[in-house]
Amino acid sequence: MPLPQAGRMTHAHDPFDRAYWEERYGAPGLTWTGKPNAVLVDEATSLKPGRALDIGSGEGGDALWLAGLGWAVTGVDISQNALDKARGRAEEVGLAVTWEQHDLTEWTPEPQTFDLVTAHFMHLADPARSVLFRALAAAVAPGGTLLIVGHDVTGHDEHRDHMAHLMFGVDDVLAAIDGEGLRVHVAESRARREGELRDIVVRATR
Ligand SMILES: C[S@@+](CC[C@H](N)C(=O)[O-])C[C@H]1O[C@@H](n2cnc3c(N)ncnc32)[C@H](O)[C@@H]1O
Repeated sequence: MPLPQAGRMTHAHDPFDRAYWEERYGAPGLTWTGKPNAVLVDEATSLKPGRALDIGSGEGGDALWLAGLGWAVTGVDISQNALDKARGRAEEVGLAVTWEQHDLTEWTPEPQTFDLVTAHFMHLADPARSVLFRALAAAVAPGGTLLIVGHDVTGHDEHRDHMAHLMFGVDDVLAAIDGEGLRVHVAESRARREGELRDIVVRATR
């Protein structure tokens, strides 16, 4: 998934606020591929379905894939336009997903509730990012899994320069979730199967 481009920033203070995302998802068609993220498929295919929370669920590519495997999924996003598109896609294929509109700088999930908490490309500025990642770790039920994936822009100067405050590394995630009682299994920068992009991947369990 590409990062939002600077040319699309229309809001002076927080360029990626709700208005930005509503405008972006208000455009016709899909913003992303509609498919699940490859890291989610790699890391979650073997998990036993239970309750899943998809953070920043967008148009629902990940949430719908999980629901198709039998997960009871809650998708959370700041954009009602995104959630409406996701809901429409779910209805088209006959899948039930709970869609909730929340600003993740103001809302946190119930502790120890979800068997899978997954966040793909949820790039907030600190301290909101660390607060969110800690809350996501806390939301993992006993036996459950936390999966956090982000853009690794190391070496991509055009992204690093103007969006450095939104970027994070493995160590930032580990510091945020430290003390929440999770065991870390994966903490790495991983090359995508195609192209030159790399992802920050952290998977941990309670
Ligand atoms: C880069 S997109 C990733 C979408 C999806 N996870 C995927 O991988 O296809 C980031 C998503 O986070 C949502 N988002 C951004 N800021 C948010 C916030 N403060 N609270 C909730 N969702 C937010 C956006 O609306 C957008 O859908």
